[in-house]
Amino acid sequence: MSKRHQKPVTKQLLSVSDQNAPFSYVEAYKMLCTNFEFITTAQDCKNIMVTSTLANEGKTNVSINLARSLAGYGKRVCLVECDLRRPTAHKLVFLSRNTEGLTNVLKGETELSKVIRKVDNTTMDVLLAGVTPPNPSELLASEKMKAIIEALEKEYDYIIYDTPPVLLVADAATLGKYMDGAIFVVKHNKTEKNLVLKAKKNLDSAGVRVLGAVYSMYNEKSAGSYSNYSSYNYYYYYGSSPKDKK
Ligand SMILES: Nc1ncnc2c1ncn2[C@@H]1O[C@H](COP(=O)(O)OP(=O)(O)OP(=O)(O)O)[C@@H](O)[C@H]1O
Ligand SMILES: [Mg+2]
Repeated sequence: MSKRHQKPVTKQLLSVSDQNAPFSYVEAYKMLCTNFEFITTAQDCKNIMVTSTLANEGKTNVSINLARSLAGYGKRVCLVECDLRRPTAHKLVFLSRNTEGLTNVLKGETELSKVIRKVDNTTMDVLLAGVTPPNPSELLASEKMKAIIEALEKEYDYIIYDTPPVLLVADAATLGKYMDGAIFVVKHNKTEKNLVLKAKKNLDSAGVRVLGAVYSMYNEKSAGSYSNYSSYNYYYYYGSSPKDKK
């Protein structure tokens, strides 16, 4: 198929705060928050990264909505966009793709406090990825990144780090050494079990503790025999698009 005929990929942000969000979608995040708080409090975790095997499995969606839901319970939350290669969180705050953020702080071009943005009517802030650098892995592994993580830790109850897929780039494993734990997103009817196991092995080797998994894009209507899927079932989340409401 020629490029001209390909359907453009437009990434939407499906928010729990959207008035059209289906009841089951919002409820799933409430459940996720309850389990999340239980595990993170017991294990004293506040730096949590969200990752998955491959692209388009719902990591950013889970990161944003988890952060929003935790903020809904009055927690001070910061969402940090560490997918420096394919950032999308700028849509959350209606800013452009090249808005200054994490990479600019990492390169010493600006200060952290200047690029942390408030998400309206919430106790949630966001640190966008910033201008895409040629060396994302290097930047994420730097001492400066460690210093940013330590600075954020002092200000927030939870810091949620949205990361790239484990099997495509090394960034998640690299960042993982600074994290208290990871949440692994598994996409309904898509993510392959052998790839999940491979990614989990990679994270284990990098010393990253997987706290649980979120099962994303589950659709009750089409789930059939998959409805009882429960691998890594510390968290169980099912989400459907607002479009499914009809
Ligand atoms: N629960 C859901 N129901 C329906 N669609 C969803 C859901 N979660 C995410 N999507 C859609 O799936 C696509 C991929 O989601 P998202 O960007 O969160 O994935 P990702 O894993 O962060 O992708 P990438 O690897 O490119 O960063 C987006 O178009 C998003 O709108
Ligand atoms: Mg993403």
